[in-house]
Amino acid sequence: MTSLLAISDLHIGYKENRRIVEELRPLSTSDWLLVAGDVSEKVSDVEWTLGLLAERFEKVVWAPGNHELWTHPSDPVQLRGEERYRHLVELCRGLGVTTPEDPYLTWTGPEGPVTVAPLFVLYDYTFRMPGVATKEEALAIAYDKGVVCTDEMLLHPDPYPTRDAWCEARIAETERRLEARPPGVPTVLVNHYPLVRDPTQVMYHPEFAIWCGTERTADWHVRFDAHTVVYGHLHIPRTTWYDGVRFEEVSLGYPREWRPRSTPPGRLRHILPSPRPVA
Ligand SMILES: [Fe+2]
Ligand SMILES: [Fe+2]
Repeated sequence: MTSLLAISDLHIGYKENRRIVEELRPLSTSDWLLVAGDVSEKVSDVEWTLGLLAERFEKVVWAPGNHELWTHPSDPVQLRGEERYRHLVELCRGLGVTTPEDPYLTWTGPEGPVTVAPLFVLYDYTFRMPGVATKEEALAIAYDKGVVCTDEMLLHPDPYPTRDAWCEARIAETERRLEARPPGVPTVLVNHYPLVRDPTQVMYHPEFAIWCGTERTADWHVRFDAHTVVYGHLHIPRTTWYDGVRFEEVSLGYPREWRPRSTPPGRLRHILPSPRPVA
């Protein structure tokens, strides 16, 4: 039986994670794989990973994470912001991997059809702690606590003045694309960040949530008829439900995170057909 599978946050700069990726295989040759961002900071690593997966799966769908968008000093590719994103999109196209810039695909396997929509929405510092009114105040608190996302140093928003301005543009473009999707077909939305805020409530550092999404997508799972929402970034793999819609956090995460868990790392998450509920 053919399946729609998902994973994210492969972070293959860690050799243990690279080994896990080398062992990732479909259950059947007709399976599709959704990769919800944070493959690596280095363009050559992204190319190696998505190239390997594209050879093994019938279709690979990618949405960018913040790590792909970093301009890391160790990466020979020093493109920034939008240029870096477009470079990755072209790289994916060369590998036959579907990106947020390509026409949405239709999955016709079990429980289909569904429209598979990879998204690039970013974040806008609106997941603030209670009582914190502005981005500036939230950032000041985060810096004071020493809980600052490396994006502030390495994720350049060029040509936009700020990351939140880039997010604003991405929201407008993504809404336009989703509104123009095929009518009457449920969606599988694939975004690096959770579309709703709730999954960030269990984070160890609540100050970090400002780098984890935007309030502007809070109703997208309903508005755009989602069957399932796939995301990563939090490195807290789990399944939750909002308004009857399944949200799957599908991250592998860092070795220090997956090593203590009792489940083996790198298991692909089943999106469709829907996994049977555990009694
Ligand atoms: Fe990650
Ligand atoms: Fe991330």
